[in-house]
Amino acid sequence: MSRLVYVLNGPNLNLLGKRQPEIYGRETLADIEKACRLLAGELKLDLEFHQSNREYEIIDWIHEARGRAVGLIINPAAFTHTSVAILDALNAYDGPVIEVHLSNVHKREAFRHHSYVSLRADGVIAGFGGQGYELALRRIARLIEPKAA
Ligand code: DQA
Repeated sequence: MSRLVYVLNGPNLNLLGKRQPEIYGRETLADIEKACRLLAGELKLDLEFHQSNREYEIIDWIHEARGRAVGLIINPAAFTHTSVAILDALNAYDGPVIEVHLSNVHKREAFRHHSYVSLRADGVIAGFGGQGYELALRRIARLIEPKAA
């Protein structure tokens, strides 16, 4: 059985480490990917890890995950608050979906308080920095165990 998990990252997350470090921290996306790969090894999960500034690429990866990946972790970045198209794509995906935000979006501007993706996500992690991705991986590993809760 597949143990493949998709980790998808939205716009501007390629600038992590340089972009508003007081909000997003000094870790780069490459650091986060490295930590995820290390943990995935322990959890015996395989990873597809991607970032794009283009909405359609994120949608195409969600389509690709259909029938292939046992779970999906997504930080849609600003698309969180705008993208019905990403929500629709996630609604066409069957496995567990965990939404991750580095910052605590609820502590920030009002426009960040609404998430289209949360209408589909099975869980949401916000404000844990890069560690949020690791928590999401652990949750997916738990959810795909037989008789998971
Ligand atoms: C973010 C929060 C979003 O509001 C913002 O647009 C981002 C990053 C986060 O990880 O905290 O780009 O998703």
